[in-house]
Amino acid sequence: MEFDGQFWKRRAEKYDSLEWVNRQGYTESFVRLGRFDKSHGVLDVGTGTGIIAYTIAPLVRHVTGIDRSDEMLAHAREKNTVKNITFETGDVRELKYADATFDRVTARMVYHHVLEGAEDGILECHRVLKPDGMFVLSEGVPPNADLRDWYSTMFAYKEERRTFLEADLVALARSASFREVRHDVYMSRRMSIKNWLNNGAVSEANKAIIVKMHRDLDAAGKRAYNMDITDDDIFIDMKFVIVSATK
Ligand SMILES: C[S@@+](CC[C@H](N)C(=O)[O-])C[C@H]1O[C@@H](n2cnc3c(N)ncnc32)[C@H](O)[C@@H]1O
Repeated sequence: MEFDGQFWKRRAEKYDSLEWVNRQGYTESFVRLGRFDKSHGVLDVGTGTGIIAYTIAPLVRHVTGIDRSDEMLAHAREKNTVKNITFETGDVRELKYADATFDRVTARMVYHHVLEGAEDGILECHRVLKPDGMFVLSEGVPPNADLRDWYSTMFAYKEERRTFLEADLVALARSASFREVRHDVYMSRRMSIKNWLNNGAVSEANKAIIVKMHRDLDAAGKRAYNMDITDDDIFIDMKFVIVSATK
């Protein structure tokens, strides 16, 4: 299925209440890899409610945040008291900017939603970067390759998306001729499944299935997630990969 605007319309309202979105350590790790500078012009693709754009803005000259969802952008715009951010509607697979426009391009948690043409979306980021410019990309991944199928099945009850492993993300960056492709892992410890499901536009029936899948996961899977099941919630360690690459 192509981009589901209705899905983002439902998600926009509660997006900023998601625990992972607000984990300072994750945002800080992402920003650290970008090595930002006051002279930099930055493009944040799939900016959503602007979390990364607002974090980067004080460190750089200007941030342009683009997103396909006008509902997500409306939430980004309503917080905008900062003069050096511009939000625009746009698709990462077809950027309207000239070649070599930006010093940095950032993309946090976007590409798993790009069901068709993710490779084109990476090529576009490469195209609009200046020579020696950096691309910073991050995605949530399963705790290990053994859990890939379980993870994909479980997520299918929440949203239509792609599952990446670390190696897939590195390969995606290399496929667009980026060099010096490096990656880091950020573990977000003890994340509440309840928070994640209640702020993610998931139907009650599917929430119940996802909770049951966690409860029924085998011992090795539970260990990999460092899972703690309490009376009214389940806590897991979420794994995020952050890739930096140079044009
Ligand atoms: C999980 S949110 C991430 C938002 C933000 N980057 C963050 O870290 O909080 C994913 C965002 O990607 C946007 N998106 C999905 N496909 C896109 C595309 N092809 N082009 C631009 N934005 C896209 C969605 O509308 C959504 O706002």
